[in-house]
Amino acid sequence: MTQNSKLKVRHLQFLECDGIGEDRGFHFKKKRRRDAPKVKDQSELPMPEELFLKYGNSPKQYANSGKRDSNILREALIRNGVDPEKGPGNILEFGCANARVLRWFCDWAYHGEAWGVDLNSPMVFWCHQNLSPPFHFAVSTTAPNLFFEDRFFSLVFCMSIFTHIDDLYLSWLAELRRVTKPGGFVYITVHDENTHRIQAEQNAPNLAKRTETTAYQEFLEQDSDFCSCGRDWKSLISFRREYLVDVLSSFFEVVEVVEGAMAGSQTAFLLRRL
Ligand SMILES: C[S@@+](CC[C@H](N)C(=O)[O-])C[C@H]1O[C@@H](n2cnc3c(N)ncnc32)[C@H](O)[C@@H]1O
Repeated sequence: MTQNSKLKVRHLQFLECDGIGEDRGFHFKKKRRRDAPKVKDQSELPMPEELFLKYGNSPKQYANSGKRDSNILREALIRNGVDPEKGPGNILEFGCANARVLRWFCDWAYHGEAWGVDLNSPMVFWCHQNLSPPFHFAVSTTAPNLFFEDRFFSLVFCMSIFTHIDDLYLSWLAELRRVTKPGGFVYITVHDENTHRIQAEQNAPNLAKRTETTAYQEFLEQDSDFCSCGRDWKSLISFRREYLVDVLSSFFEVVEVVEGAMAGSQTAFLLRRL
């Protein structure tokens, strides 16, 4: 197995967070990797207390939402030649939060290195304490600069991350391409016209947040290609699909487009690094 021996942590960014010690210091106790028995399946992994962004109202619903989103990705990979038993090799979930989705890849994690990174340091540290092994975790930065060597991963996936990255989306696509092996896969989910249609039918709160903004009204009226409602990690980003396919095609081969893939409404793009 390839070891990520050149791993260099260039920047660690700790977000301001409440609840980790009154003086904003923090500590943790981590079990030793060598003492940990092999995990048979995700049901042996602890569930986080915080059901982040309410992908379900109970731990069971939360777990099932991750299973559903991961299965759509898994099936797309298998359709495109990935070994169902061993998986693709080294895996990265970019924007893993508390590993709602990554946890469903613990079978594949033993056939390579499986990493999760996110800006949200409390969640990453929870994962580091509770889900490692089999996974590896690290806090990443808002700057498009991951600390992995070139061409390290066979799969990089991003579940609802390009729905929040505003002006740096091109730079992030270039960075994800850099860390992916030629022939490897990148999977991203986005809001596009189909998402808006589904959300309108469901009267979803996300749509209401968008429609109230001038940027979104102008995006519709002026037939624009890209729209950011807000300017932080919670920005709601919309792409016109035709524009996005054009952009993605300059970095990757677009292998499949799957509608309703993430949380029932986001459109997924399975991409291959040439
Ligand atoms: C909508 S949540 C999705 C979380 C997770 N992928 C899931 O499906 O449960 C978006 C996540 O992206 C993370 N994020 C946003 N911008 C990021 C960036 N530039 N680098 C790393 N993580 C980012 C946020 O911290 C947040 O955890």
